[in-house]
Amino acid sequence: MDHQQKKEVTRRNLLKTAGIAGAGAAVLLMGLKDKAQASSGTYPQIKVANLKELKTGKPVKFDYPLVGRKNMLVDLGCPVEGGVGANKSIVAYSAFCTHIGCGVELDKESGMLICECHQSIYDPKQSGKLIEGPSPSNLPMISLEVDKNGDIYAVGVAGLIYGLRNNLLDGEEVK
Ligand code: FES
Repeated sequence: MDHQQKKEVTRRNLLKTAGIAGAGAAVLLMGLKDKAQASSGTYPQIKVANLKELKTGKPVKFDYPLVGRKNMLVDLGCPVEGGVGANKSIVAYSAFCTHIGCGVELDKESGMLICECHQSIYDPKQSGKLIEGPSPSNLPMISLEVDKNGDIYAVGVAGLIYGLRNNLLDGEEVK
């Protein structure tokens, strides 16, 4: 197995683990307070937006899993890998580039997530896959769930957010 294949397998395992963690979090969190869950080391379930509020291609920014850990949620308008919603088109990612943590923004023209500092490019249609640039890894993807009212919740993170040794430590909980 070459280096690239190993990277891909590791990423798939991460996504799988995050998916399980996300589903588990949703079940465990029912009837519990987000605060208790975050402090116990389980990913919190935080409402990000409602389906009705989303406009295709217009990102919604939010903190998750703790205050200051910035992310963006976007409806890409077509079915994509890991997407949620009726069209499987809604995804969310950490807004911190995995190179040295600069801000990543959605480029309207290319539809890519591009870092403002050294122009690493990530594909939001491929689970945040690094396309080019100096970054060492893909962009962490936020696991999402949609309830029957159309409320979209962040329920987990696949990958380590830049600069952290643990996504859930050393920060203030999102209220
Ligand atoms: Fe994003 Fe350098 S911080 S490419």
